[in-house]
Amino acid sequence: MLGGWALSTGDNASGGCNTQAVPGHNAANGEEVVLTGRILSTERRGNWEQLIELADTQDHTGGTYRMLLDSRAHEGLLPWATIKGARKLLAPGAEVQAVATAKPSDDGTLFLATKLILVGALPASPFLARLLSFGPDTLAEFFDTEKNTPETTYAALAYALRPAQIAQVRALSEFCAGEAKAGRFETLFKHEELRELGDSIREAQGWTRGPRVPKATSPATWAALERMEQRWCTECADETKFVVGTQTFVSVNTNQDVLLNTLANNLPNPKDSKRLEYICQRKRPQIEWMIGLIRKLLLAHKEENDVFQLVDVGGGRGDLAHAVAKYYGSSVFVTVMDINPTSLSAGRKLAHDHSTANMKFLLCDLSKLDAAVLPAHIDLVFGLHCCGGLSESAVELALRSQASFAVSTCCFRSNNHLASLTSMSTRKASPINGEETEDSTRKDLDAVTGLALIGGAKGHSRAIQAINSMRLQMAKEKSRRSLNTRLEWFPQAYSEQNCVMVGSLCPS
Ligand SMILES: C[S@@+](CC[C@H](N)C(=O)[O-])C[C@H]1O[C@@H](n2cnc3c(N)ncnc32)[C@H](O)[C@@H]1O
Repeated sequence: MLGGWALSTGDNASGGCNTQAVPGHNAANGEEVVLTGRILSTERRGNWEQLIELADTQDHTGGTYRMLLDSRAHEGLLPWATIKGARKLLAPGAEVQAVATAKPSDDGTLFLATKLILVGALPASPFLARLLSFGPDTLAEFFDTEKNTPETTYAALAYALRPAQIAQVRALSEFCAGEAKAGRFETLFKHEELRELGDSIREAQGWTRGPRVPKATSPATWAALERMEQRWCTECADETKFVVGTQTFVSVNTNQDVLLNTLANNLPNPKDSKRLEYICQRKRPQIEWMIGLIRKLLLAHKEENDVFQLVDVGGGRGDLAHAVAKYYGSSVFVTVMDINPTSLSAGRKLAHDHSTANMKFLLCDLSKLDAAVLPAHIDLVFGLHCCGGLSESAVELALRSQASFAVSTCCFRSNNHLASLTSMSTRKASPINGEETEDSTRKDLDAVTGLALIGGAKGHSRAIQAINSMRLQMAKEKSRRSLNTRLEWFPQAYSEQNCVMVGSLCPS
């Protein structure tokens, strides 16, 4: 049940609401509507609020909705904020149904959700494992069914996993909950029955592996992008000012097998063929490309360093760091910083197994960086796939240490709490037509960040460029020494969206 609406257990893929579709976009202020849609993107705003963009699956208008979940204001949303792991179920691709009230504004209608249930699962093993590991009482909260009627809950679960049968999902749910309780949650990802379930959902619901067709970029987003470009894309490229030095490295290990073996051995599951394919076709070329860039930046250093001190921000298991340490041998020392202890342990073990002595792994949260844990001197900060604000923390670390940087960016709406350069930019933005306020600059940024997330959308690369140019402008303003910056792009063949922010201090 959802605000009086019943969940259908039918097998169509267009949502569980058994009543007339409500044309949400025409809803009047305060009008209550029921929306069903697939999540396109989500943005967490503190502990209680989450902004969700939904693609309608109810009346097939092709429309999208912006919906705000404020769990503090509405009891019906509490499970999504308070049950551990629940928020991960509200992932792009999952289908939800919500009761919401409309709040029209000049930027389009925002829907304020009062209740939300899951009506379609993501057919990926980690998602299925997570969902199925919750016991019936918790599942009842996600489906808004009565706790004392597990049959109804399992029927709702079967609907979300259509074409699965009720008895099948009940058995799977009991099995997964047992495995999770016994500490074997991660083994579920490889479980044959979950894989088969994912395959059947994909087939029945028409999931395809092809790229999502992006919606047309709206005139308002274009206008926001153009304003951002006018503000930030003029001065950030110092192409001609980059210094190329003559220093040579003591040792460079160019053996390709070393790199591939190191990467393959660094996989959580080396037999995972899909992951291995990704490593070979995308990540390894990215790493090789980054190694070339790092080389150029180190060569630009004038000082005769015995050992270059490098830091890999958000380095995880240290895929890039291992490769850099192997390539440059004793000429460099690499410190991998990450907030995830499990990734760091895996990286540490690999370094030990390969006798890689010129690297170390440091557990730290970049939002609370303690100077005491940092190397006394840093020559270069790098980062591969630094999600959202983490890339800004990496640049900040470089500025603070007066180091060069090469930071690849992605996921432009995550780690907002680390986005210090972005916050600075909204205060510093100079007016384009004399009417801007801090608020309107923030709105432009919001629209452009949204565009930067939609691979294949018109203006996608320009949006990424505008955001990163803005970050680099702020870095230049903050830097105590004169800083040359530029943006570089990985070749399209192995990354459509990873742009690298590069900074090099002018020789003093
Ligand atoms: C997308 S992963 C990239 C990992 C690695 N660079 C690679 O390419 O495999 C982002 C990494 O940033 C780390 N991270 C996220 N927030 C962080 C923070 N506040 N401080 C340090 N590391 C963080 C995550 O744990 C994760 O390992």
